[in-house]
Amino acid sequence: MATLSLLPGVVPELTPALLERYAPMYERVREVIPELEWQTHLPWIDAIQGLKKQRNAVILAHNYQPPEIYHTIADITGDSLALAQQAARAEAKVIVQCGVHFMAETSKILCPEKTVLIPDTAAGCSLAESITAEDVRLLKAKYPGVPVVTYVNTSADVKAESDVCCTSANAVHIVESLGVDRVIFLPDKYLGQYVASKTQVKVILWEGSCEVHERFTGEELRSYRRAHGNVRILAHPECPPDVLLEADFVGSTAAMITHLNERRPRRVVMITECSMSDNVAVEFPDIQFTRPCNLCPHMRRITLPRIHDALLHMRHEVQVDPAVAGRARQAVERMLAYGRKEAA
Ligand code: 13P
Ligand code: SF4
Repeated sequence: MATLSLLPGVVPELTPALLERYAPMYERVREVIPELEWQTHLPWIDAIQGLKKQRNAVILAHNYQPPEIYHTIADITGDSLALAQQAARAEAKVIVQCGVHFMAETSKILCPEKTVLIPDTAAGCSLAESITAEDVRLLKAKYPGVPVVTYVNTSADVKAESDVCCTSANAVHIVESLGVDRVIFLPDKYLGQYVASKTQVKVILWEGSCEVHERFTGEELRSYRRAHGNVRILAHPECPPDVLLEADFVGSTAAMITHLNERRPRRVVMITECSMSDNVAVEFPDIQFTRPCNLCPHMRRITLPRIHDALLHMRHEVQVDPAVAGRARQAVERMLAYGRKEAA
């Protein structure tokens, strides 16, 4: 299969031997991948496994990737913070980032010597697109001396203008760790408002938002409660404030998984991108998930055939200007160093 997959233009074939070899893997994911879909995915999965070895590549997949990527070919899965940390530690020569462009840039910033591929260069993010480096320079001129805390969902150019990065998992702690009374928080206004509600530090906001999370409403959450009684509602802090007020727990995608591990509720609604529920349902077969389906169109651009194509042709390499990468790395490493301090 691996040799076949190196012939350009060849669509891998489904064979009975392949079905048998991957039967244990299918057993694990059958609740979230229908059999017919599995038969379409399987030849690609097998071909990618072969190419991954040949290219000495590691595949990173964000929690929002679909289950046919997340549970089959990914070597490392996680939230933005975990992927950034693992990218820094990866030994492979090639990183295939199954996520969106800013995540691939973060991997390149942390691993400049590695080849970082993104299967579709158009996999963007409404938050990353809401702000430019010039916007940050103007803000710094307006608020001289006020530190800039930037969500990792931004371009390398924007990170390079920032003092420190954060993710939704550590935003409050990063803001407080600076020991100042005011910060500029970019670019997600909802995450920024959430941070402001958890700290005494004054937060200067930007008007960015996530096109997926801003679609949820408090009324929608109340309707889940009416329909399902004692359901536990977990919401991502990129959601608007009325949604977070209705939720039982607010946290990053990784924090949601930890919460389920610790609390083991019987019925759950995850107010976040909907692939996440599919991925987590495989790990927690005893929990019943109600799955509101807000898909991220950018995450959906990453498909098995495109991953195969990227690895086969070593295509869609992510480049970051070394001068920009150097400054952006400082902001990301300050965030990671904070994490190490916490763990110590
Ligand atoms: P986390 O995985 O850091 O919670 O981020 C969510 C997100 O929207 C990433 O694009
Ligand atoms: Fe960006 Fe929202 Fe998609 Fe995450 S879910 S990549 S924040 S648009």
